[in-house]
Parts: sequence; structure tokens; C-alpha cells
Amino acid sequence: MPAPTIAIAALDPASLGEATGRLAEILHACVHDGASVGFVLPFDIGEAHAYWRDRVAPPHAAGSRLVLIASLDDDIAGTAQLDLDSMPSKRHHAEVSKVLVDPPFRRAGVARALMAEIEGQARAADRWLLTLDTAGDAAEALYRSLGYEFAGAIPSYARDAFEDRYDATRLMYKDLRRG
Ligand SMILES: CC(C)(COP(=O)(O)OP(=O)(O)OC[C@H]1O[C@@H](n2cnc3c(N)ncnc32)[C@H](O)[C@@H]1OP(=O)(O)O)[C@@H](O)C(=O)NCCC(=O)NCCS
Repeated sequence: MPAPTIAIAALDPASLGEATGRLAEILHACVHDGASVGFVLPFDIGEAHAYWRDRVAPPHAAGSRLVLIASLDDDIAGTAQLDLDSMPSKRHHAEVSKVLVDPPFRRAGVARALMAEIEGQARAADRWLLTLDTAGDAAEALYRSLGYEFAGAIPSYARDAFEDRYDATRLMYKDLRRG
């Protein structure tokens, strides 16, 4: 059977509103699967909805945040964001965040496709320095495979989603001028 096609789209405010339910499900599933993406348990679906509604929709509507979705056979399988809200001295910079793939859809190239589009959108906006932070082995492997370089680690950066301990974050970057 041929592999399903991964379709990537940048959402406009109306389509973000329509997709919020599914995006909340994906965030909820990723956190419960152990992702360190800003939340700790208990984390219910209402808090996941609130994240998209209160923290993502306003900067997205203002044009300072891109939200991408990846669809497989018409089902949203993953998402990624690009924060363009840089200070005047950093207008060449953007921050990649919340690269989230629903667990049943992993290792099918969804995140790689999202990152290709993130980089394309960054180039189109003249943002050639991309930064991100990550705590997970899978995510670091993904970013390294795409040419992101390790810049350093910050110990005790974020509380673990499940346990009462503080984990390090690992800072990574990519200079798109180098390819
Ligand atoms: C990290 C994550 C986004 C990867 O998504 P994915 O769609 O499964 O990744 P892809 O299938 O596009 O993988 C691309 C490459 O990344 C690397 N990779 C991805 N998952 C990996 C894993 N579990 N172990 C090792 N390498 C991995 C591989 O090099 C892979 O290429 P390959 O499959 O040809 O070997 C996904 O596991 C996820 O959502 N994790 C939870 C959320 C998170 O931690 N996000 C990042 C923080 S912002």
C-alpha cells in the first residue's frame, strides 16, 4: 500500500478556531505520553483547549505566530509553531516551538515535513536564525537529523510532567544561510 501523503498547511485565524479541538487532543496526548512541552499532570483536555485559545490564538491573530498543521488522509496528525515576535535587533531570528505529533502517527515523517515547511516559512519571512529548546531524546534526534546544532543545556529548567523533579532543557539552533 502506498504511504499516505502528508499535507502541510499554515492556518489562518478562522481555521485555527476550527482546528482547536483536534489540536487540543494532540497536545493532551503528547503530554500524557511524556512530552516536556510546558505542562504538568494533572492536565485535562480543558487546559489543552485553553492553551490554544488563550496563548496561541492571540499572537496568531496578530500575525506574530505561525501555526502549521500536518494532515494524513484528512486527519490532523501534528502541528508546529514559529514565533516571529523578535525585538528589532533580532529580526533575522524566529523560535520554533510545540512540534507535536499525535503518538499513533509517529515515525512516518510528519515532524520532518512540518519542519521543512517551518524552515520555508522562516526563509520567506527573512528569518535565517532558528532556535528551539528540547528535553526529549526523540526531538533532539529529529532536530539533529535536520542540521540543528546543540548550543548548551540549562539544568533544572522545567518540572517533569509526571514527577516532582526538574529536568534540563537543551538549546539548539540552525543558521539557514548555511543550507
Ligand atoms: C519528536 C516528534 C515531534 C517526532 O515526530 P515524528 O513525526 O515521529 O518524527 P519523524 O517521523 O518526522 O522523524 C524524523 C526523524 O527524526 C528522528 N526521530 C524521530 N523520532 C525518533 C525517535 N523516537 N527516536 C530516534 N529518532 C527519532 C529520526 O531521525 C527520524 O528519521 P527516520 O524515521 O527516518 O529515522 C514526536 O516524537 C513528538 O511529538 N514528541 C513529543 C513532543 C515533543 O517532544 N516535541 C518536541 C519539543 S518542541
